[in-house]
Amino acid sequence: MVAAATAPSEKVKIQLRGLVKTFWSNGNPVEVLNGVDLDIFSGENLAVVGASGVGKSTLLHILGTLERPTGGQLLWEGHDVFTLDDQKLAAFRNRKIGFVFQFHHLLPEFNSLENVMMPALIARLPRPQAQERAEAILVRVGLKERLRHRVSTLSGGEQQRVAVARALVLEPEVLLADEPTGNLDPRSGARVQEMILELNRERGLTSIIVTHNRDLAQALDRQITLIDGKAVILQGV
Ligand SMILES: Nc1ncnc2c1ncn2[C@@H]1O[C@H](COP(=O)(O)OP(=O)(O)O)[C@@H](O)[C@H]1O
Ligand SMILES: [Mg+2]
Repeated sequence: MVAAATAPSEKVKIQLRGLVKTFWSNGNPVEVLNGVDLDIFSGENLAVVGASGVGKSTLLHILGTLERPTGGQLLWEGHDVFTLDDQKLAAFRNRKIGFVFQFHHLLPEFNSLENVMMPALIARLPRPQAQERAEAILVRVGLKERLRHRVSTLSGGEQQRVAVARALVLEPEVLLADEPTGNLDPRSGARVQEMILELNRERGLTSIIVTHNRDLAQALDRQITLIDGKAVILQGV
């Protein structure tokens, strides 16, 4: 049994205001997000659930500043982050956000340690420090015996845990995860879940997690879903 998360503090960290995202497909608009309004509190663990194709990954990519919205605002501690140019936005993202992709996007020819060190090296941490941090977080996700294994030789579950470690190596303020337990057996999934909740208790990590895993969603503070391109709170206030 996994311990419940701490209650979120009341400080708003991220605000979505009238967020719109429209894709174009063969000249036709695909309106995925249609005015999402949502406040995310500092130190909360938020689950995003909902049917396939409803826009969960799109929402997460915009929250992670990986993609710009068609309209509306993403305010981060009151600052409209999409006013930053691409270079400043990339620096902001590297410093503040850890992202676990649905299809993990690891570098298959590199080993676990190298994959996890990568963001730290990009952030110009000295190599020994980057390695120390990467090793510590890989041990924490249970991959002590896989540090120098090439990622392409690891199982899907192990690869996903490398992706989680990579997202956390720079101790981000916010973790965004797209189905982080999707490829994991129940035991590995529970370990990832426990780690996210531990980091929340230890240092107030804010997590926004897209998941179909009911146990994981229920262990978080709130659940939202997307309906008709808008965010609807399912559980929690
Ligand atoms: N780059 C894109 N171009 C066109 N359509 C897209 C693009 N990305 C996503 N979509 C469409 O947007 C909708 C939402 O996709 P997505 O956010 O991946 O949904 P979910 O993660 O909830 O399954 C889907 O209909 C998908 O086909
Ligand atoms: Mg998705």
